Amino acid sequence: MDKQALDPVWIGKTFDDFLFRPQRGVTTTRASIPLRAQLTGALALELPIVSSNMDSVTGGDMAQTMALEGGLGVIHRGQSIERQSETLARVKRSHSAVIEQPRTLPAGSTIGEARAFARRHKINGILIETRPGSAILAGVLTRRDIPWDRVHDSETVETFMTPLAQLKTAGPQVATEEAERIMFEGRIERLPLIDDQHRIHGLITRKDVRFLRERPFASKDIKGRLLAGAAVGCAGDFLERAQALLEAGADCLFVDIAHGHSQVMQHGIEHLRGQFPDVPLVCGNVATGAGARFMCDLGADAVKVGVGPGRGCRTRLETAAGVPQLQAIREAWCEVGGEISIMADGGVRHDKDIFLALACGADTVMLGSALSGTDEAPGRVIEDPATHSKKKIYRGMTSPEAVMESLYDSEDIEAVDAALATPPEGQEIQVPYRGSVVDILHRIRGHLRSAVSYAGCDSLESAREATLPDPLQHLIVLSDASRRESYER
Ligand code: XMP
Repeated sequence: MDKQALDPVWIGKTFDDFLFRPQRGVTTTRASIPLRAQLTGALALELPIVSSNMDSVTGGDMAQTMALEGGLGVIHRGQSIERQSETLARVKRSHSAVIEQPRTLPAGSTIGEARAFARRHKINGILIETRPGSAILAGVLTRRDIPWDRVHDSETVETFMTPLAQLKTAGPQVATEEAERIMFEGRIERLPLIDDQHRIHGLITRKDVRFLRERPFASKDIKGRLLAGAAVGCAGDFLERAQALLEAGADCLFVDIAHGHSQVMQHGIEHLRGQFPDVPLVCGNVATGAGARFMCDLGADAVKVGVGPGRGCRTRLETAAGVPQLQAIREAWCEVGGEISIMADGGVRHDKDIFLALACGADTVMLGSALSGTDEAPGRVIEDPATHSKKKIYRGMTSPEAVMESLYDSEDIEAVDAALATPPEGQEIQVPYRGSVVDILHRIRGHLRSAVSYAGCDSLESAREATLPDPLQHLIVLSDASRRESYER
Protein backbone atom coordinates (compact mmCIF):
# COMPACT_ATOMS: atom_id res chain seq x y z
CA MET A 1 0.00 0.00 0.00
CA ASP A 2 1.33 3.45 -0.88
CA LYS A 3 2.27 5.67 2.02
CA GLN A 4 -0.21 8.52 2.51
CA ALA A 5 0.34 12.02 3.82
CA LEU A 6 -1.73 12.86 6.90
CA ASP A 7 -4.61 15.18 6.03
CA PRO A 8 -4.37 18.21 8.40
CA VAL A 9 -8.03 17.63 9.41
CA TRP A 10 -6.80 14.79 11.65
CA ILE A 11 -4.54 17.01 13.71
CA GLY A 12 -5.79 17.35 17.26
CA LYS A 13 -8.73 14.99 16.66
CA THR A 14 -9.96 12.07 18.67
CA PHE A 15 -13.03 9.87 18.96
CA ASP A 16 -15.59 12.44 20.09
CA ASP A 17 -14.67 14.76 17.22
CA PHE A 18 -16.49 12.67 14.60
CA LEU A 19 -19.67 10.97 13.55
CA PHE A 20 -19.81 8.36 10.82
CA ARG A 21 -22.18 9.24 7.93
CA PRO A 22 -24.67 6.36 7.56
CA GLN A 23 -24.56 4.52 4.20
CA ARG A 24 -27.22 2.47 2.43
CA GLY A 25 -27.46 -0.84 4.31
CA VAL A 26 -26.84 -4.12 2.49
CA THR A 27 -27.52 -6.75 5.15
CA THR A 28 -30.82 -8.25 6.16
CA THR A 29 -29.52 -9.41 9.53
CA ARG A 30 -26.79 -7.91 11.63
CA ALA A 31 -26.41 -10.94 13.85
CA SER A 32 -24.00 -12.79 11.59
CA ILE A 33 -21.80 -9.93 10.33
CA PRO A 34 -18.19 -11.23 10.52
CA LEU A 35 -15.77 -9.18 12.61
CA ARG A 36 -12.59 -11.09 11.77
CA ALA A 37 -9.35 -9.10 11.97
CA GLN A 38 -5.61 -9.67 11.90
CA LEU A 39 -3.82 -9.36 15.24
CA THR A 40 -0.61 -9.94 13.28
CA GLY A 41 0.03 -11.32 9.80
CA ALA A 42 -0.13 -14.86 11.22
CA LEU A 43 -2.79 -14.55 13.93
CA ALA A 44 -6.44 -13.71 13.28
CA LEU A 45 -9.20 -12.96 15.80
CA GLU A 46 -12.95 -13.30 15.25
CA LEU A 47 -13.47 -10.35 17.60
CA PRO A 48 -10.86 -7.59 17.22
CA ILE A 49 -10.66 -6.88 20.95
CA VAL A 50 -7.62 -7.41 23.16
CA SER A 51 -7.55 -6.97 26.94
CA SER A 52 -4.77 -4.78 28.31
CA ASN A 53 -1.67 -6.22 29.90
CA MET A 54 -2.46 -4.54 33.21
CA ASP A 55 -2.60 -6.11 36.64
CA SER A 56 -6.16 -4.88 37.19
CA VAL A 57 -7.32 -6.19 33.80
CA THR A 58 -5.68 -9.38 32.54
CA GLY A 59 -4.80 -12.40 34.62
CA GLY A 60 -5.62 -15.99 33.75
CA ASP A 61 -9.42 -15.74 33.98
CA MET A 62 -9.59 -12.71 31.70
CA ALA A 63 -7.17 -14.22 29.16
CA GLN A 64 -9.18 -17.44 29.08
CA THR A 65 -12.52 -15.67 28.63
CA MET A 66 -11.18 -13.24 26.03
CA ALA A 67 -9.97 -16.15 23.88
CA LEU A 68 -13.19 -18.10 24.37
CA GLU A 69 -15.11 -15.06 23.11
CA GLY A 70 -12.90 -14.66 20.02
CA GLY A 71 -10.57 -11.93 21.31
CA LEU A 72 -7.24 -12.14 23.11
CA GLY A 73 -5.94 -11.48 26.60
CA VAL A 74 -2.41 -10.31 27.31
CA ILE A 75 -1.07 -11.42 30.67
CA HIS A 76 0.67 -8.56 32.41
CA ARG A 77 4.32 -8.56 33.41
CA GLY A 78 3.98 -6.83 36.78
CA GLN A 79 4.73 -10.15 38.48
CA SER A 80 7.50 -12.72 38.71
CA ILE A 81 8.46 -14.71 35.62
CA GLU A 82 7.24 -17.88 37.34
CA ARG A 83 3.79 -16.50 38.15
CA GLN A 84 3.29 -14.99 34.72
CA SER A 85 4.36 -18.21 32.95
CA GLU A 86 2.26 -20.39 35.26
CA THR A 87 -0.82 -18.22 34.60
CA LEU A 88 -0.22 -18.44 30.89
CA ALA A 89 0.29 -22.21 31.01
CA ARG A 90 -3.01 -22.51 32.87
CA VAL A 91 -4.83 -20.64 30.09
CA LYS A 92 -3.20 -22.83 27.45
CA ARG A 93 -4.24 -25.97 29.31
CA SER A 94 -7.75 -24.78 30.12
CA HIS A 95 -9.51 -25.76 26.90
CA SER A 96 -8.06 -27.79 24.13
CA ALA A 97 -9.07 -30.59 21.84
CA VAL A 98 -6.11 -32.59 23.18
CA ILE A 99 -4.60 -32.15 26.64
CA GLU A 100 -1.00 -32.81 25.68
CA GLN A 101 0.47 -33.37 29.11
CA PRO A 102 -2.34 -34.70 31.26
CA ARG A 103 -1.79 -34.76 34.99
CA THR A 104 -0.63 -38.14 36.24
CA LEU A 105 -0.11 -39.85 39.58
CA PRO A 106 1.98 -43.00 39.97
CA ALA A 107 0.52 -46.34 40.99
CA GLY A 108 1.01 -46.75 44.72
CA SER A 109 -0.32 -43.25 45.48
CA THR A 110 -3.04 -43.24 48.10
CA ILE A 111 -6.67 -42.28 47.62
CA GLY A 112 -6.09 -39.39 50.04
CA GLU A 113 -3.30 -38.09 47.81
CA ALA A 114 -5.45 -38.50 44.71
CA ARG A 115 -8.31 -36.57 46.31
CA ALA A 116 -6.01 -33.65 47.17
CA PHE A 117 -4.37 -33.81 43.71
CA ALA A 118 -7.74 -33.65 41.89
CA ARG A 119 -8.85 -30.73 44.05
CA ARG A 120 -5.57 -28.82 43.68
CA HIS A 121 -5.52 -29.11 39.89
CA LYS A 122 -9.30 -28.83 39.50
CA ILE A 123 -9.49 -32.02 37.44
CA ASN A 124 -12.02 -34.85 37.35
CA GLY A 125 -9.87 -37.62 35.93
CA ILE A 126 -6.32 -38.63 36.85
CA LEU A 127 -4.20 -40.83 34.61
CA ILE A 128 -2.32 -43.36 36.72
CA GLU A 129 1.18 -44.23 35.48
CA THR A 130 2.90 -47.52 36.31
CA ARG A 131 5.64 -45.87 38.39
CA PRO A 132 6.81 -42.28 39.02
CA GLY A 133 7.87 -40.67 35.74
CA SER A 134 7.29 -43.78 33.58
CA ALA A 135 4.51 -42.11 31.53
CA ILE A 136 3.19 -45.65 30.95
CA LEU A 137 -0.56 -45.83 31.49
CA ALA A 138 -1.73 -48.18 34.23
CA GLY A 139 -5.31 -46.95 34.54
CA VAL A 140 -7.63 -43.99 35.09
CA LEU A 141 -9.04 -42.78 38.39
CA THR A 142 -11.99 -40.39 38.17
CA ARG A 143 -13.48 -38.29 40.97
CA ARG A 144 -16.47 -40.63 40.89
CA ASP A 145 -14.13 -43.55 41.71
CA ILE A 146 -12.83 -41.80 44.84
CA PRO A 147 -14.93 -42.86 47.84
CA TRP A 148 -16.83 -40.09 49.66
CA ASP A 149 -15.78 -41.14 53.13
CA ARG A 150 -12.20 -40.97 54.31
CA VAL A 151 -12.11 -44.61 55.45
CA HIS A 152 -10.28 -45.65 52.28
CA ASP A 153 -7.85 -42.72 52.18
CA SER A 154 -4.80 -44.85 52.94
CA GLU A 155 -5.58 -47.46 50.28
CA THR A 156 -3.81 -47.23 46.92
CA VAL A 157 -5.33 -45.85 43.74
CA GLU A 158 -5.08 -49.25 41.99
CA THR A 159 -7.92 -50.54 44.16
CA PHE A 160 -10.37 -47.99 42.75
CA MET A 161 -9.11 -47.05 39.27
CA THR A 162 -10.26 -48.58 35.98
CA PRO A 163 -7.23 -50.61 34.84
CA LEU A 164 -5.78 -50.21 31.35
CA ALA A 165 -7.19 -53.57 30.19
CA GLN A 166 -10.74 -52.26 30.72
CA LEU A 167 -10.15 -48.78 29.29
CA LYS A 168 -10.98 -47.44 25.85
CA THR A 169 -7.93 -45.70 24.42
CA ALA A 170 -6.81 -44.33 21.04
CA GLY A 171 -3.55 -43.71 19.22
CA PRO A 172 -1.69 -40.38 19.56
CA GLN A 173 -2.80 -39.11 16.12
CA VAL A 174 -6.52 -39.87 16.44
CA ALA A 175 -8.76 -37.30 14.69
CA THR A 176 -11.09 -35.32 16.94
CA GLU A 177 -14.19 -36.72 15.15
CA GLU A 178 -13.00 -40.31 15.63
CA ALA A 179 -12.24 -39.61 19.30
CA GLU A 180 -15.72 -38.18 19.71
CA ARG A 181 -17.26 -41.29 18.11
CA ILE A 182 -15.31 -43.62 20.43
CA MET A 183 -16.32 -41.62 23.50
CA PHE A 184 -19.96 -41.46 22.39
CA GLU A 185 -20.24 -45.17 21.59
CA GLY A 186 -18.36 -46.22 24.73
CA ARG A 187 -20.36 -43.75 26.86
CA ILE A 188 -17.09 -42.47 28.29
CA GLU A 189 -16.00 -38.98 29.24
CA ARG A 190 -12.26 -39.21 28.59
CA LEU A 191 -10.04 -40.95 26.10
CA PRO A 192 -6.34 -41.44 26.88
CA LEU A 193 -4.06 -41.34 23.84
CA ILE A 194 -1.32 -43.97 24.05
CA ASP A 195 1.14 -45.67 21.71
CA ASP A 196 1.98 -49.37 21.27
CA GLN A 197 4.07 -49.34 24.44
CA HIS A 198 1.17 -47.76 26.37
CA ARG A 199 3.15 -44.54 26.65
CA ILE A 200 0.84 -41.55 27.41
CA HIS A 201 0.64 -38.96 24.58
CA GLY A 202 -2.40 -37.00 25.63
CA LEU A 203 -5.99 -37.02 26.79
CA ILE A 204 -9.20 -36.01 25.05
CA THR A 205 -12.26 -35.22 27.13
CA ARG A 206 -15.83 -35.07 25.84
CA LYS A 207 -16.41 -31.86 27.76
CA ASP A 208 -13.56 -30.08 25.97
CA VAL A 209 -14.52 -31.32 22.52
CA ARG A 210 -18.16 -30.31 23.05
CA PHE A 211 -17.17 -26.96 24.50
CA LEU A 212 -14.92 -26.02 21.59
CA ARG A 213 -17.45 -27.27 19.04
CA GLU A 214 -20.01 -24.90 20.56
CA ARG A 215 -17.54 -22.01 20.15
CA PRO A 216 -16.26 -22.03 16.58
CA PHE A 217 -15.38 -18.35 17.03
CA ALA A 218 -13.00 -18.91 19.97
CA SER A 219 -9.38 -17.89 19.38
CA LYS A 220 -7.40 -21.11 19.07
CA ASP A 221 -3.94 -22.21 18.04
CA ILE A 222 -3.32 -25.03 15.56
CA LYS A 223 -3.54 -27.58 18.37
CA GLY A 224 -6.98 -26.33 19.39
CA ARG A 225 -5.70 -24.62 22.57
CA LEU A 226 -6.84 -21.11 23.45
CA LEU A 227 -4.68 -18.27 22.14
CA ALA A 228 -2.92 -16.21 24.79
CA GLY A 229 -0.48 -13.31 24.71
CA ALA A 230 1.96 -12.14 27.33
CA ALA A 231 3.85 -8.93 27.95
CA VAL A 232 7.61 -8.52 28.28
CA GLY A 233 9.76 -5.44 28.71
CA CYS A 234 13.04 -4.53 27.02
CA ALA A 235 15.52 -4.59 29.89
CA GLY A 236 16.69 -6.69 32.82
CA ASP A 237 15.51 -10.27 32.65
CA PHE A 238 13.26 -9.74 29.60
CA LEU A 239 14.89 -12.47 27.48
CA GLU A 240 14.59 -14.97 30.30
CA ARG A 241 10.96 -13.93 30.74
CA ALA A 242 10.30 -14.28 27.00
CA GLN A 243 11.87 -17.74 26.99
CA ALA A 244 9.75 -18.90 29.93
CA LEU A 245 6.55 -17.50 28.42
CA LEU A 246 7.18 -19.16 25.08
CA GLU A 247 7.88 -22.46 26.82
CA ALA A 248 4.56 -22.02 28.64
CA GLY A 249 2.86 -21.67 25.23
CA ALA A 250 2.57 -17.91 24.55
CA ASP A 251 1.32 -17.35 21.00
CA CYS A 252 2.67 -13.84 20.77
CA LEU A 253 4.73 -11.49 22.89
CA PHE A 254 3.73 -7.93 23.62
CA VAL A 255 6.90 -5.89 23.90
CA ASP A 256 5.42 -3.15 25.98
CA ILE A 257 7.09 -0.03 27.34
CA ALA A 258 5.75 3.47 27.90
CA HIS A 259 7.95 5.14 25.26
CA GLY A 260 8.26 2.59 22.48
CA HIS A 261 9.89 4.91 19.95
CA SER A 262 13.21 4.66 21.73
CA GLN A 263 16.67 3.18 21.95
CA VAL A 264 15.47 0.88 24.69
CA MET A 265 12.84 -0.64 22.38
CA GLN A 266 15.37 -1.04 19.58
CA HIS A 267 17.64 -2.98 21.94
CA GLY A 268 14.66 -5.08 23.06
CA ILE A 269 13.34 -5.98 19.63
CA GLU A 270 16.79 -6.73 18.21
CA HIS A 271 17.55 -9.16 21.02
CA LEU A 272 14.11 -10.79 20.95
CA ARG A 273 14.23 -11.16 17.16
CA GLY A 274 17.74 -12.56 17.39
CA GLN A 275 16.72 -15.20 19.89
CA PHE A 276 13.14 -15.92 18.76
CA PRO A 277 13.02 -15.12 15.03
CA ASP A 278 9.53 -16.52 14.34
CA VAL A 279 7.57 -15.35 17.37
CA PRO A 280 4.88 -12.76 16.59
CA LEU A 281 5.86 -9.51 18.32
CA VAL A 282 3.35 -6.75 19.06
CA CYS A 283 5.41 -3.72 20.02
CA GLY A 284 4.52 -0.42 21.62
CA ASN A 285 3.56 2.08 22.56
CA VAL A 286 4.01 4.83 20.01
CA ALA A 287 1.82 7.76 19.00
CA THR A 288 3.27 9.01 15.71
CA GLY A 289 3.79 7.86 12.15
CA ALA A 290 7.54 7.97 12.72
CA GLY A 291 7.13 5.72 15.75
CA ALA A 292 5.08 3.23 13.75
CA ARG A 293 7.68 3.21 10.96
CA PHE A 294 10.43 2.63 13.54
CA MET A 295 8.62 -0.48 14.84
CA CYS A 296 7.93 -1.77 11.35
CA ASP A 297 11.56 -1.37 10.29
CA LEU A 298 12.74 -3.17 13.44
CA GLY A 299 10.64 -6.19 12.49
CA ALA A 300 7.56 -5.85 14.72
CA ASP A 301 4.54 -7.83 13.49
CA ALA A 302 2.15 -5.26 14.91
CA VAL A 303 2.53 -1.82 16.43
CA LYS A 304 0.59 -0.73 19.49
CA VAL A 305 -0.54 2.88 19.28
CA GLY A 306 -1.47 5.14 22.16
CA VAL A 307 0.47 7.44 24.45
CA GLY A 308 -1.54 8.78 27.35
CA PRO A 309 -5.22 8.39 26.32
CA GLY A 310 -6.01 5.70 28.92
CA ARG A 311 -8.15 6.17 32.01
CA GLY A 312 -5.33 5.09 34.31
CA CYS A 313 -2.78 7.32 32.53
CA ARG A 314 -1.23 10.52 33.75
CA THR A 315 1.48 10.76 31.10
CA ARG A 316 -0.12 13.67 29.28
CA LEU A 317 -0.88 15.52 32.51
CA GLU A 318 2.61 15.07 33.90
CA THR A 319 4.75 15.41 30.76
CA ALA A 320 2.58 16.93 28.00
CA ALA A 321 3.65 14.01 25.81
CA GLY A 322 0.96 12.43 23.65
CA VAL A 323 -1.07 12.63 20.45
CA PRO A 324 -4.88 12.63 20.35
CA GLN A 325 -5.73 8.97 19.89
CA LEU A 326 -7.59 9.01 16.57
CA GLN A 327 -4.90 11.21 15.04
CA ALA A 328 -2.25 8.79 16.31
CA ILE A 329 -4.11 5.81 14.81
CA ARG A 330 -4.45 7.57 11.46
CA GLU A 331 -0.79 8.64 11.47
CA ALA A 332 0.22 5.03 12.03
CA TRP A 333 -2.03 3.84 9.21
CA CYS A 334 -0.70 6.45 6.78
CA GLU A 335 2.81 5.25 7.57
CA VAL A 336 2.58 1.44 7.95
CA GLY A 337 -1.03 0.51 7.07
CA GLY A 338 -1.05 -2.72 5.06
CA GLU A 339 2.56 -3.52 6.05
CA ILE A 340 2.01 -4.56 9.67
CA SER A 341 -1.07 -4.68 11.88
CA ILE A 342 -1.99 -1.70 14.03
CA MET A 343 -3.45 -2.05 17.50
CA ALA A 344 -5.19 1.00 18.97
CA ASP A 345 -4.50 1.06 22.71
CA GLY A 346 -6.33 3.21 25.22
CA GLY A 347 -8.92 5.94 25.37
CA VAL A 348 -11.99 3.89 24.43
CA ARG A 349 -14.90 5.11 26.53
CA HIS A 350 -17.83 4.13 24.31
CA ASP A 351 -18.34 1.27 21.88
CA LYS A 352 -18.48 3.69 18.95
CA ASP A 353 -14.83 4.56 19.65
CA ILE A 354 -13.89 0.99 18.77
CA PHE A 355 -15.54 1.24 15.36
CA LEU A 356 -13.95 4.64 14.70
CA ALA A 357 -10.51 3.25 15.61
CA LEU A 358 -11.01 0.31 13.24
CA ALA A 359 -12.44 2.43 10.43
CA CYS A 360 -9.58 4.93 10.61
CA GLY A 361 -6.61 2.55 10.73
CA ALA A 362 -6.55 0.06 13.59
CA ASP A 363 -6.79 -3.68 12.93
CA THR A 364 -7.52 -4.46 16.57
CA VAL A 365 -8.32 -2.46 19.70
CA MET A 366 -6.88 -2.93 23.19
CA LEU A 367 -9.18 -2.15 26.12
CA GLY A 368 -8.27 -1.58 29.75
CA SER A 369 -10.85 0.29 31.80
CA ALA A 370 -13.73 -0.86 29.57
CA LEU A 371 -13.06 -4.46 30.64
CA SER A 372 -12.08 -3.72 34.23
CA GLY A 373 -14.63 -3.98 37.02
CA THR A 374 -15.62 -7.43 35.75
CA ASP A 375 -15.57 -10.83 37.44
CA GLU A 376 -12.72 -11.95 35.17
CA ALA A 377 -10.45 -8.97 35.97
CA PRO A 378 -8.08 -9.61 38.89
CA GLY A 379 -8.96 -8.05 42.24
CA ARG A 380 -11.82 -8.21 44.68
CA VAL A 381 -15.22 -6.57 44.53
CA ILE A 382 -15.47 -3.82 47.16
CA GLU A 383 -18.88 -2.98 48.57
CA ASP A 384 -19.51 0.50 49.89
CA PRO A 385 -21.03 -0.10 53.35
CA ALA A 386 -23.20 3.03 53.11
CA THR A 387 -24.61 2.75 49.58
CA HIS A 388 -24.00 -0.97 48.93
CA SER A 389 -22.68 -0.02 45.50
CA LYS A 390 -20.02 -2.42 44.27
CA LYS A 391 -16.67 -1.40 42.81
CA LYS A 392 -13.36 -2.80 41.67
CA ILE A 393 -9.96 -1.17 41.40
CA TYR A 394 -8.52 -0.14 38.03
CA ARG A 395 -5.00 1.25 37.97
CA GLY A 396 -2.33 2.34 35.55
CA MET A 397 0.72 0.09 35.51
CA THR A 398 2.93 2.97 36.56
CA SER A 399 0.60 4.00 39.39
CA PRO A 400 2.36 3.86 42.78
CA GLU A 401 0.13 0.94 43.83
CA ALA A 402 0.90 -1.21 40.76
CA VAL A 403 4.62 -0.43 40.92
CA MET A 404 4.83 -1.31 44.61
CA GLU A 405 2.99 -4.57 44.09
CA SER A 406 5.11 -5.63 41.12
CA LEU A 407 8.23 -5.05 43.21
CA TYR A 408 6.93 -6.92 46.21
CA ASP A 409 8.75 -10.18 45.44
CA SER A 410 11.68 -8.65 43.58
CA GLU A 411 15.20 -9.34 44.76
CA ASP A 412 16.69 -7.06 42.13
CA ILE A 413 17.60 -4.11 44.37
CA GLU A 414 18.73 -1.93 41.46
CA ALA A 415 15.40 -2.42 39.66
CA VAL A 416 13.50 -1.61 42.86
CA ASP A 417 15.56 1.55 43.43
CA ALA A 418 15.12 2.64 39.81
CA ALA A 419 11.35 2.07 39.90
CA LEU A 420 10.95 3.92 43.19
CA ALA A 421 13.00 6.84 41.87
CA THR A 422 10.67 7.32 38.87
CA PRO A 423 7.66 9.53 39.59
CA PRO A 424 4.35 7.85 38.68
CA GLU A 425 2.60 8.44 35.35
CA GLY A 426 -0.40 6.34 36.24
CA GLN A 427 -3.20 6.45 38.78
CA GLU A 428 -5.60 4.17 40.58
CA ILE A 429 -9.36 4.66 40.33
CA GLN A 430 -12.46 2.79 41.41
CA VAL A 431 -14.75 1.53 38.66
CA PRO A 432 -18.27 0.16 39.07
CA TYR A 433 -18.52 -3.62 39.35
CA ARG A 434 -19.93 -4.85 36.03
CA GLY A 435 -20.50 -8.61 36.29
CA SER A 436 -19.04 -10.88 33.64
CA VAL A 437 -16.86 -9.59 30.83
CA VAL A 438 -18.81 -11.97 28.56
CA ASP A 439 -21.75 -9.54 28.69
CA ILE A 440 -19.53 -6.58 27.87
CA LEU A 441 -18.01 -8.40 24.90
CA HIS A 442 -21.49 -9.43 23.75
CA ARG A 443 -22.54 -5.78 23.79
CA ILE A 444 -19.38 -4.64 21.96
CA ARG A 445 -19.85 -7.36 19.33
CA GLY A 446 -23.43 -6.26 18.75
CA HIS A 447 -22.57 -2.57 18.50
CA LEU A 448 -19.69 -3.26 16.12
CA ARG A 449 -22.00 -5.28 13.86
CA SER A 450 -24.53 -2.43 13.91
CA ALA A 451 -21.80 0.07 13.05
CA VAL A 452 -20.73 -2.08 10.08
CA SER A 453 -24.34 -2.25 8.94
CA TYR A 454 -24.74 1.56 9.19
CA ALA A 455 -21.52 1.82 7.17
CA GLY A 456 -23.31 -0.01 4.34
CA CYS A 457 -21.18 -3.16 4.52
CA ASP A 458 -21.63 -6.84 5.33
CA SER A 459 -18.37 -7.46 7.19
CA LEU A 460 -15.90 -5.50 9.25
CA GLU A 461 -13.25 -6.32 6.66
CA SER A 462 -15.27 -4.81 3.79
CA ALA A 463 -16.16 -1.77 5.94
CA ARG A 464 -12.48 -1.16 6.60
CA GLU A 465 -11.59 -1.67 2.94
CA ALA A 466 -14.20 0.92 1.95
CA THR A 467 -13.18 3.43 4.60
CA LEU A 468 -9.45 3.17 5.19
CA PRO A 469 -8.19 4.84 2.01
CA ASP A 470 -10.05 8.03 2.96
CA PRO A 471 -12.07 7.89 6.19
CA LEU A 472 -12.77 11.63 6.03
CA GLN A 473 -15.17 10.96 3.14
CA HIS A 474 -17.32 9.08 5.65
CA LEU A 475 -16.75 11.20 8.72
CA ILE A 476 -18.40 14.39 9.86
CA VAL A 477 -16.30 16.73 11.97
CA LEU A 478 -18.45 17.87 14.87
CA SER A 479 -19.10 21.37 16.11
CA ASP A 480 -19.46 21.88 19.85
CA ALA A 481 -23.25 21.94 19.38
CA SER A 482 -23.37 18.73 17.33
CA ARG A 483 -21.02 17.02 19.78
CA ARG A 484 -23.39 17.95 22.59
CA GLU A 485 -26.34 16.71 20.53
CA SER A 486 -24.53 13.42 19.80
CA TYR A 487 -22.76 12.50 22.97
CA GLU A 488 -24.32 14.31 25.91
CA ARG A 489 -27.19 12.45 27.52
P1 XMP B 1 -7.96 2.42 28.75
O1 XMP B 1 -8.36 3.78 28.30
O2 XMP B 1 -8.56 1.35 27.90
O3 XMP B 1 -6.37 2.37 28.53
O4 XMP B 1 -8.20 2.22 30.19
C1 XMP B 1 -5.63 1.20 28.72
C2 XMP B 1 -4.19 1.46 28.36
O5 XMP B 1 -3.58 2.42 29.21
C3 XMP B 1 -2.16 2.26 29.13
N1 XMP B 1 -1.59 2.32 30.49
C4 XMP B 1 -0.94 3.38 31.00
N2 XMP B 1 -0.62 4.58 30.46
N3 XMP B 1 0.39 5.24 32.50
C5 XMP B 1 0.05 5.50 31.22
O6 XMP B 1 0.34 6.61 30.73
C6 XMP B 1 0.11 4.05 33.11
O7 XMP B 1 0.41 3.83 34.29
C7 XMP B 1 -0.58 3.08 32.32
N4 XMP B 1 -1.01 1.81 32.57
C8 XMP B 1 -1.62 1.40 31.43
C9 XMP B 1 -1.91 0.92 28.48
O8 XMP B 1 -1.46 1.15 27.17
C10 XMP B 1 -3.28 0.27 28.52
O9 XMP B 1 -3.48 -0.73 27.55
